[in-house]
Order: sequence, then C-alpha cells, then structure tokens
Amino acid sequence: MSLFDVYPLFDVTPVKGEDVFIYDENGTKYLDLYGGHAVISIGHSHPTYVKNISEQVGKLGFYSNSIQNPLQRELSTKLESISGCDGYQLFLCNSGAEANENALKLASFHTQKKKVIAFKNSFHGRTSAAVAATDNLKIIAPINAQQEVDFFELGDLTGVENSLKGGDVCAIIVECIQGVGGLDEVETGFYKGLERLARTYNALLIADEVQSGFGRTGDFFAFQKHEIRPHIISIAKGMGNGFPIGGILIHPTIEASFGMLGTTFGGNHLACMASLAVLDVLEQEHLMENAKAVSTYFIEQTKSLPKFKNLKGRGLMLGLEFDFPVSELRKKLIHKHRIFTGSAKNPNLLRILPPLTVQTAHIDLLFEALKEEL
Ligand SMILES: Cc1ncc(COP(=O)(O)O)c(C=O)c1O
Repeated sequence: MSLFDVYPLFDVTPVKGEDVFIYDENGTKYLDLYGGHAVISIGHSHPTYVKNISEQVGKLGFYSNSIQNPLQRELSTKLESISGCDGYQLFLCNSGAEANENALKLASFHTQKKKVIAFKNSFHGRTSAAVAATDNLKIIAPINAQQEVDFFELGDLTGVENSLKGGDVCAIIVECIQGVGGLDEVETGFYKGLERLARTYNALLIADEVQSGFGRTGDFFAFQKHEIRPHIISIAKGMGNGFPIGGILIHPTIEASFGMLGTTFGGNHLACMASLAVLDVLEQEHLMENAKAVSTYFIEQTKSLPKFKNLKGRGLMLGLEFDFPVSELRKKLIHKHRIFTGSAKNPNLLRILPPLTVQTAHIDLLFEALKEEL
C-alpha cells in the first residue's frame, strides 16, 4: 500500500533525538530549531519524560473515559497552578484541531448560537469548524464551507463589533500571536477589546494557544501579556512534547453536562503522564525563564546580520523576515549546515521554534550559518 502523498518531504530520516539535536540513520547530527513544528517543548527524549512514560506503559497505557483516572486530576491541578488559570476546568483530547473543534462546539452549546468570528491569516486546524475558521481556502472542503465565519484583520475591533451586532455569533477565536500565519500580534487594547465585546454580546472568546502555549513565549500562555481571561483556551503541541495530547481550559462560569463533549483516547494514562512530565521539567529546569533569556540573546544577535527586513514574534516563537522567499535558504540550512528551521504562510519568513531547552551556543550556530549564506 502506498502512502497518501500529502506532505512535501525533506530528504532526511531522523531516527534518534536528544535535547535540541536529532540524528539521521547515518548518525549525522542536526540542530532542531523547528521543534517538529513547535511541538518539542522540553527537548527530545528528555530522561524524565522517557522514564515516566515507560513506567506508565508498563503499568497501564490506556483505559476509556468510563473509569476513574487520577492522572487527569493530577494534570489539571498541576496545569492550574503553573498556568495561573485559577478555577478553569480541563477537557482533554488528542490534537490542536480537536481542541479548537471542541472549543467552538462548546461555545455553540453554551450560547445556543452558531456563527464564528476569526481573523485573516489564522490557522486553527483541519477538522470541520476549526478549518472553517482557518484563513486558507485551499484546505476548506465544500463540506466545511457551510460553517458561517466572518474574517477580520487582526486589530479590527470595529469589524468584530459590527459582526457581533448581527446577533448569531457564538465565538471569537484568536491566536494572540499568529503561528502559521507569520507571527503577527497587535497591541493589548485589541485583545482587551475582544474580551469586552465577547461579554457584551454573549459570545465566547477562545484563545488558540495550541502553538504559543506551554511556555513557548516565555509566559505560560501568550494571552497573559495582554492581561485577559478568555472563556476557553485551547492547547496541544508543547503539552505532550510529541505525545499526541490536546485540551481546552474552560472558564468556571461554563457548566458541563454528561455527554456534552467526549472522546475515546483523550486524557488516556500515557498522554497524561507525558504532559505531567512536561510540566515537571518546565518548572524544575526553569524553561520559561530560559525561553525569555535565549530570546533576548537571539534578538541581540540579529544586529550582526547583514540583511534582514524584520524580526517578528517573542519568546521562542520567533521569525526573521527577509525580502526574498526563504525556501532555498531553509534547504541550505538543513543540507549544508544541518540546522532545521520553520516556514510560514508568509514565504519570506524564517521561523525559529526550538525546544525551550535551547542555549545561546545553539543560537550562535544559526547566526554563523546565516552570515555565511546571506
Ligand atoms: C495555532 C494552531 N492551532 C491549531 C493547530 C492544529 O493543531 P493540530 O495539527 O495538532 O491539529 C495548529 C497547528 O499547527 C496551530 O498552529
């Protein structure tokens, strides 16, 4: 059977990972400044992570959501204390798209409305309502297009308010820093405005923290810089350091009822153990502080670059914008300098999404390579 050919692939076959490095089948070492698309938070094969998951699979890997699973409660307690999201409730699922799908569905149940407000250049995943709220017509099939979504420029509060006045909006979904779209973020007044408008017009504000959450920006969540309290916060990627797990944090005012949401695999024992290991390591190794410090160093180093147009993002969700498409540069970085970086919808943007354990010496390797190629 052949594989359904949907991914353009680099000709590299990683077989081993260790902290910020991956190794191919010939033992060639690559610096991972892409983190497998912002997924690797505590570093590849972190010893605590490997130990905890291995021990758990030896005991019990999975049972359905029909029994008591104390690991889910342990995860929710730990997540509440590290994130500072006091009083929120946790629903667990398996991916970022699924997290947003459940967030949108919950907003619709809660408000009994059905229209969604989203933003230009957004990416929320590929399932039904999540993909409809994604600003990319190429990945929206006719079956998804029936969902009503109004798109506005990030920052356009007037547009958002006019749409809300129409009365049928259940949710506003926003990435405070857009990931795939190209690391755009606007001023705090906009996010505070969204919070205020959502409350005024009885819609729920969903912060999509699938990419920016779990410490990537140096804060636990990107929205925290703007001092808002979204109704729903969606999480995935860094949450499991590669183990498939996602979830939504749900504001205390939103009530659950049996059967409202559900999943077979979500919140299974192994997934909880993976995420608990991530939270332990984040805390013990002060990785959010490290993200901020290494980010500051990165920003300082850009001064020595011969040509680049713009620095975007914050924490370890960074991008260098050039005045040319970066696809050839990325290939040279991988094949000649053995460094993985990321791309974006904006073809001129080179994205840097390393494990949060990255050190300044690793950033030096990138800048040496860039200086040679630019
Ligand atoms: C902000 C954001 N939301 C949602 C998703 C979808 O996550 P997943 O691919 O796990 O479904 C992504 C994936 O890149 C993302 O960046």
